[in-house]
Amino acid sequence: MTDTITIRRPDDWHVHLRDGAMLEAVAAFTARQFARAIVMPNLSPPVTSAASAADYRQRIMAALPDGSDFTPLMTCYLTDTADAGDIAAGHADGIFTAAKLYPANATTNSAHGVTDVAHIMPVLERMQDIGMPLLVHGEVTDGDIDIFDREAVFIERVLEKLIGALPDLKIVFEHITTEQAVQFVDSCGPNVAATITPHHLHINRNAMFAGGIRPHAYCLPVAKRERHRLALRKAATSGSAKYFLGTDSAPHEIHAKESACGCAGIFNAPYALESYATVFDEEGALDRLEMFASEHGPQFYGLPLNEASVTLERTGSAVPANIEVVGSTLVPFHAGSKLEWRII
Ligand code: DOR
Ligand code: ZN
Repeated sequence: MTDTITIRRPDDWHVHLRDGAMLEAVAAFTARQFARAIVMPNLSPPVTSAASAADYRQRIMAALPDGSDFTPLMTCYLTDTADAGDIAAGHADGIFTAAKLYPANATTNSAHGVTDVAHIMPVLERMQDIGMPLLVHGEVTDGDIDIFDREAVFIERVLEKLIGALPDLKIVFEHITTEQAVQFVDSCGPNVAATITPHHLHINRNAMFAGGIRPHAYCLPVAKRERHRLALRKAATSGSAKYFLGTDSAPHEIHAKESACGCAGIFNAPYALESYATVFDEEGALDRLEMFASEHGPQFYGLPLNEASVTLERTGSAVPANIEVVGSTLVPFHAGSKLEWRII
């Protein structure tokens, strides 16, 4: 039995670092685990210009503990009126690594998102030309579509057409949750990849209703049936370069989660790597953790691999029931339980 494992330092290809006091509270958790992270732009107001992204990057750097070795990679929030020239210039200047498509009203702070992909075709054409990745929250928002079907319907109604129109656009299908998404990503060329969260590898939709309503298991896209979780586990541990680590760590204060209308989002940053390592171990695939966590992401984004390394040991991590941060309480993923692995 393997009791320690050393891998290249990983990156998080999808995280919500927030702003203000919450940013101050959570930045250190991500920086402790990851060398780089793709930072989501769904602030209020959203990060839609290179200037606002540069300012936000400064605030993130200022929120890091002294001595952190962490690089935030910034993203542009696409709106119906997104300007191809601005976005391309921000990319050329090294401010924007990628741009994020939120279908309008799909999730937290997405009210300014795109109402119809047709509106942003000139932007997407430009992104294809310059090799700038499009990050996709893949859910339709139509009220007649069951929430558990939103991702699968998005593939049929939006993604297939988009890829047909722009076959060379680099696309990351973010936080996939279904076997349909795995099949779709597998069927595409190497310019289409996907991130997978730790929570979608650990829980199925029963977790939201285990003995009562469980707001800390609620996120978007919502967890699906067991067969989907198993398909995600297979994809993540397959060794395919199309799949890489993206936590989608999305902190909300405890009162915003435990509410009559609780916010979507799971805060997994504090033990994310331990959580993934547990899955890879359970699947007999610890030898593939490094590819998923530290190689496939940079290869897709065309960035160098990290040189530093991190060692995990099988001594276990006791995850606290909650984490007190300045002025508020956060409930981490796996709260109150023990994970098999620990970062040394
Ligand atoms: O669960 C989620 N929380 N999904 C998202 O897409 C957004 C995120 C957030 O920002 O809270
Ligand atoms: Zn997200």
